[in-house]
Amino acid sequence: MGPPGAGKGTQAEFIAAHLAVPKISTGDIFRANVAQGTPLGVEAKRYMDAGQLVPDEVTINMVADRLSEPDAADGFLLDGFPRTVPQAIALDKMLIELGSGLDVVMELVVENEEVIRRLSGRRTCRGCGKIWHVEFDATKSEGICDRCGADLFQRDDDKPETIAERLKVYSRDTAPLVDYYGARGVLVGIDATGPVEDITVRAIDALRSYGG
Ligand code: AP5
Ligand code: MG
Repeated sequence: MGPPGAGKGTQAEFIAAHLAVPKISTGDIFRANVAQGTPLGVEAKRYMDAGQLVPDEVTINMVADRLSEPDAADGFLLDGFPRTVPQAIALDKMLIELGSGLDVVMELVVENEEVIRRLSGRRTCRGCGKIWHVEFDATKSEGICDRCGADLFQRDDDKPETIAERLKVYSRDTAPLVDYYGARGVLVGIDATGPVEDITVRAIDALRSYGG
């Protein structure tokens, strides 16, 4: 967990590869549905463009489906879920049903001014989904992914007014999960400032004490 722009997607890619588990990002699943024009995508887009959360019931059912896929049987890394207390309670129930459990919750800690800088320059690859930044992690040729050669795009919800709303929603609805998981002793705070690689090292070091 962490506010919009904290680097959840960036770090999740490296950490999931390190742990050899799938990265399951609710934001990515919603965006894929928007791109394909599915009914779920049409519904989700209304909320996403306004910087609001997609309703819990829709999100919870989608995650339950995803966690029941075979590639998640030996573990997974969630990015952007849960982000409300009802979602966290639903996840606990899903994990019991799957005979699984939650090993650790990582909170990426970074100031609002920095996340605004990160989000306003973010670019995402339309082909492979790799996350770039025009200033902090630029591609060699503008607008083209170094990894796969596809075009980059700017997310619709990275407009200043939507960013402000997402930050508000984060502190109101998602920040309470810090106490929820803190009380259970599974929360680890990671300083998410500085170079991407340094943050990955901090995160992987922290995971070791949880058996990762
Ligand atoms: P989601 O896609 O999850 O968006 P978010 O939480 O707002 O987070 P972001 O993806 O914007 O940021 P990030 O932390 O992944 O940062 P990133 O690595 O890209 O959700 C989108 C929407 O979907 C929500 O608003 C909601 O409507 C809906 N939704 C999703 N999940 C939901 C749920 N559970 N319930 C209900 N609704 C849900 O990095 C950002 C930028 O910074 C990049 O350009 C990157 O290159 C750069 N960067 C990263 N690290 C560094 C660094 N160390 N230094 C400099 N730059 C850096
Ligand atoms: Mg993300």
